[in-house]
Amino acid sequence: MLLMKFLIRGGKKLSGEIAVKGAKNAALKAMAAALLFENPVVLENMPLIEDVSRAGELLGGLGASIKKRGEGAIEIDPRGAVQSELEQEIAKRLRASVVVVGPLLARGGKASFPYPGGCVIGRRPIDVFLDGWRAMGATIKMEKGNGFCVEAGKLRGADYTFRVVSVTGTETLMMTAALAEGRTVLRNAALEPEIPALARFLNSSGARIRGAGTPTIEIEGTAGKLLRAAEAFRMIPDRIEAGSFLILGAALAPGDGLRISGCNPEHLTAVLAALRDAGARPEIGKDWVTVRRPEKLRAVNIQTREYPGFPTDLQAPFAVLMTQAEGESIIFETIFENRFGYAEDLKRMGANIFFADQHRIVVKGPTVLRGREIESPDLRAGLAFVAAALLAEGESKISNVYQIDRGYEKIDERLRKLGADIERVR
Ligand code: EPU
Repeated sequence: MLLMKFLIRGGKKLSGEIAVKGAKNAALKAMAAALLFENPVVLENMPLIEDVSRAGELLGGLGASIKKRGEGAIEIDPRGAVQSELEQEIAKRLRASVVVVGPLLARGGKASFPYPGGCVIGRRPIDVFLDGWRAMGATIKMEKGNGFCVEAGKLRGADYTFRVVSVTGTETLMMTAALAEGRTVLRNAALEPEIPALARFLNSSGARIRGAGTPTIEIEGTAGKLLRAAEAFRMIPDRIEAGSFLILGAALAPGDGLRISGCNPEHLTAVLAALRDAGARPEIGKDWVTVRRPEKLRAVNIQTREYPGFPTDLQAPFAVLMTQAEGESIIFETIFENRFGYAEDLKRMGANIFFADQHRIVVKGPTVLRGREIESPDLRAGLAFVAAALLAEGESKISNVYQIDRGYEKIDERLRKLGADIERVR
């Protein structure tokens, strides 16, 4: 599977409708949350992606059992989860593995895990997780081979302020606190829509969480008592997938444009604003957006920010769009320190990009892109390469498709239905 490539012949226009799948970054947290329950839980609208499979393997390694329950639904039975050690190889491949540690610690009082490395978009430390657990009374030992062991006889509620705003940090500590003794206050919490979604799920299962989606979250813990899972929980639409399709539409869908359905436009305001500034005129419905390529694309500066700002996960696809826009666009990445790895490859395809400093590139457009062989370094840059290849003259081969499959369900099949010339080849 690791050897598969996308063969893309560029220059085809896109049109039609594409439905957004359930959010990867909600699904991974909901799966971890299963460990907080005394009973099995059904998760619906799950994307069929590699990261979800890895998370399933991780839970399986702990002793939980996972069953398919029809289209896009899984059932997780946490009752056999008696192991406290995350499987090294899987945990290292999945940044979200650290999210499992919070519920695991809350459930059994102990969790061992390797440093969740393997990521190419920056250092991605885990200090806020460790600090938060310590504040709740856990002790943390470094283990041989760069791993950690977190232990807590009893987790106590704490008043904890995040030094940096962290999405997974907020979610993880919120889940840990759900079973702690007493009240936890998390300050400077992240606001991403996946966080209130997770809180709603936990609250429907007996947790007491207030303020999720604001910077201050209050959690009344259960003093160790497991939660009783609500019947089923449905993932919110993937706002990053939706945003990726919006960018594809603005780049490649003249005429009737692309209709992106099954999304939540309220979660897409920053991207929609940037697209409007670029000259696109998206039409917005309750759960759909239509976007088409404007006659003239204009350069726009963007700055990635925590939600509700422009998402870092759409920075690379947006830079590809800007290669087609008239003028100079400054792309300012403020969340991660190493998220321009893709720019050299875009330059090889003909893009006119210059590195202003470690956090800023300048894209001058419009330029004609030419097909190339490129390797997908990470999930979002991989999608950006797909966009670039679809725009390019000639043929491109994108290797390391696993990275794209980590977060986008069957992207080749779905784009083909819109008119893209994309094949999965060995
Ligand atoms: N940070 C620290 N210390 C920590 C944790 C984070 O300094 O202990 C720093 C990071 O280095 C970074 C900043 O805080 O500079 C923000 O990182 P955050 O913790 O918010 O990122 P994350 O939780 O690891 C999630 C998503 C990412 C998404 C970011 C930002 C999941 C599984 N991952 O990562 O999604 O880019 O939030 O929105 O939810 C993706 O889906 O492709 C992806 C990378």
